[in-house]
Amino acid sequence: MKLSRAELKSLMKNKLMRAGLKEEHAEITAEILTWSDERGYHSHGAVRVEYYSERISKGGITIEPNFQFKETGPCSAIFEGDNGSGYVAAKLAMDKAIEMAKKNGIAVVGIRNISHSGSIGYYTEMAAKKNLAAISFCQSDPMAVPVGGSEPYYGTNPISFAAPTADGRTVVFDMATTVQAWGKILDKRSRGESIPNTWAVDAKGNPVTDPNLVNALLPMAGAKGYGLMMMVDVFSGILLGVPFGKHVSSMYHDCSKGRELGQMHIVIDPARFVGIEEFKKNMSQCCDELNSITPADGYDKVYYPGERAELRKEKAYASGGIEIVDEIYEYLKSDDIHFNRYDHKNRFAD
Ligand code: NAI
Repeated sequence: MKLSRAELKSLMKNKLMRAGLKEEHAEITAEILTWSDERGYHSHGAVRVEYYSERISKGGITIEPNFQFKETGPCSAIFEGDNGSGYVAAKLAMDKAIEMAKKNGIAVVGIRNISHSGSIGYYTEMAAKKNLAAISFCQSDPMAVPVGGSEPYYGTNPISFAAPTADGRTVVFDMATTVQAWGKILDKRSRGESIPNTWAVDAKGNPVTDPNLVNALLPMAGAKGYGLMMMVDVFSGILLGVPFGKHVSSMYHDCSKGRELGQMHIVIDPARFVGIEEFKKNMSQCCDELNSITPADGYDKVYYPGERAELRKEKAYASGGIEIVDEIYEYLKSDDIHFNRYDHKNRFAD
């Protein structure tokens, strides 16, 4: 089913409001979910609405959160999320970080006690669109083994960086620190296909090719990815005083409780370094030079990070809209909330 941007966003917004989210929060959440779907990050778009709706309706996302922004220094602050919508908290915290970085050159804003905030590239892109460079990272449910381990300890702990160019392009690097997202395992399971032995491990920590035997995901790039996912947890968990490592709540364990997740935004004003015009000019040159590298066999082009997501967006609109799975469309159109589909499921909610 292909939907226009407006239709998809309004279906998601209405469903979130039906579940209990207030309009202002449903508007922001639906906007960011649409941002993901239109860029082809379907793992973080409409597919999540049913789960969020169950959590909202069961009280696991605070409807009237007491958001508090506490400046702890000229360049540092804590945004207290009160387990409200992670999308809204992360967006409002980035608004504040942008303001602080414009004023003082750099902003480090820790966001405490929030629910899932989706594709974190949305937040770094916000800063880049205001001529700033940004980094964001956050915790997620423990589902990846540390190198050499057999039990999950860290989440897919994503990291995003973004920077502006002189010509309207925005470089947005946005990735999970596991080889693959959990959604890709579910996809392979549903198709009855095997997975490469580099993606995941079984209950003993051995690599698996049968997606049904997967007990945990593997960090990307071995010990390097493991180190990155740990440091994401150090800076967005331990540093902010929220649960860390295996103590991070599972998305599905108890939908009536707040998730208490942490996220960190770091925003830098290039004006305090090389100067904004030179920074953007050189960013443009860098992207052009990458694009002009002769592709290796089997590749059509060298892309800069985020370029393919923009192309997917353009292609979607040129071909009649954003492709949404029929089942999800039917759910969004319906009056259902599906009260007991996710609650108390295993950590991967298969
Ligand atoms: P991915 O593997 O599709 O892409 C990762 C990055 O690599 C992107 O910046 C992309 O632009 C870049 N890239 C990919 N192929 C490229 C190529 N050929 N040339 C140049 N650049 C290329 O992303 P992944 O890891 O599957 O993450 C998807 C989304 O899931 C992200 O938006 C992430 O924020 C989100 N996520 C959110 C989590 C949360 O708990 N909030 C947890 C994990 C992921």
